Amino acid sequence: MSFSTSAFAADKLTFYCSAQEDWCQLMTQEFSAATGIKVNMTRKSSGETFAQIKAESANPKGDVWWGGTGDPHLQAAEEGLTEPYVSPMRSELQDWALRQASSASDKTIGIYSGALGYGYNEELLKKNNLPVPSCWKDLLKPEYKGHVQMANPNSSGTAYTTLATMVQIFGEEEGFEFMRGLHKNINQYTKSGSAPIKAAAKGENTIGIVFMHDAVKQAVSGFPIKVVAPCEGTGYEIGSMSIINGARNMESAKKFYDWALSADAQSLALQVKAFQVPSNTGSSTSPSAPDLSTIKLIDYDFKKYGSSSERKRLLKKWDDEVYAQ
Ligand code: G6P
Repeated sequence: MSFSTSAFAADKLTFYCSAQEDWCQLMTQEFSAATGIKVNMTRKSSGETFAQIKAESANPKGDVWWGGTGDPHLQAAEEGLTEPYVSPMRSELQDWALRQASSASDKTIGIYSGALGYGYNEELLKKNNLPVPSCWKDLLKPEYKGHVQMANPNSSGTAYTTLATMVQIFGEEEGFEFMRGLHKNINQYTKSGSAPIKAAAKGENTIGIVFMHDAVKQAVSGFPIKVVAPCEGTGYEIGSMSIINGARNMESAKKFYDWALSADAQSLALQVKAFQVPSNTGSSTSPSAPDLSTIKLIDYDFKKYGSSSERKRLLKKWDDEVYAQ
């Protein structure tokens, strides 16, 4: 009888997902179909999932955390909330995905990459007689008051990437001055990172600060969205995956992890118009995906901005000096 608990345990997976809802659902269905493992999936933003895993750490409920920006995955690794794992799939991965793993003693790994930017609804822009923006600093223009939306960096990895990007492009003082200036034009801080561009697609918001691939998804879906790679240059994410320390279904978590690194699993992204750059070198890509080699990318310091002390410090400073206004 001694085998029974582990045999049953291997048939389940509690999956925390921080990518887009439709992609999370597709990954759930396809992994279940491929393995017969019953998956219980919850989609929450990157910062929210980090906070949940931390809150549950005395009695972990999740097994694997897939998707979302890399910074909170790195913070989770540093705080011992996630478990080291060296997958046999590693030989198929891009260098940047492996660098993410080695900077966290194998407690996380890169699954996709994407550049930050913004998108705007060109019909609303025209209707409101607004100029066409092309730089980060353009978003500070007083005529955009009430027309710009971004997520809250505490809940959203996209918005934290935005904050850390401004600090890296302009320096800390000027970066925060930028965030305070931007605050004057913000109509709402959403919980999820991609919500601002979904609102723009529906005509409920004009400009959304998001990952460029999230804006492209709306454009190729037929909405009047234009995508901007800001003139000053921009930051980017290494979307990541981690196994939760103390996972109850460790075998299932490892199976999911290996499967999610395969070219076939990563190619599923195109079915839901998720146009990130996949980390498996053999995955399919779309001509619609933003070409990162043509975008001016900063040398984003993942180690620093994904460290527990720096992420906490910047979020507190943003709460005190920007949001509190
Ligand atoms: C979207 C993007 C992902 C990103 C994620 C972060 O889903 O497509 O590339 O990792 O947002 O979500 P969050 O809600 O934490 O900003």
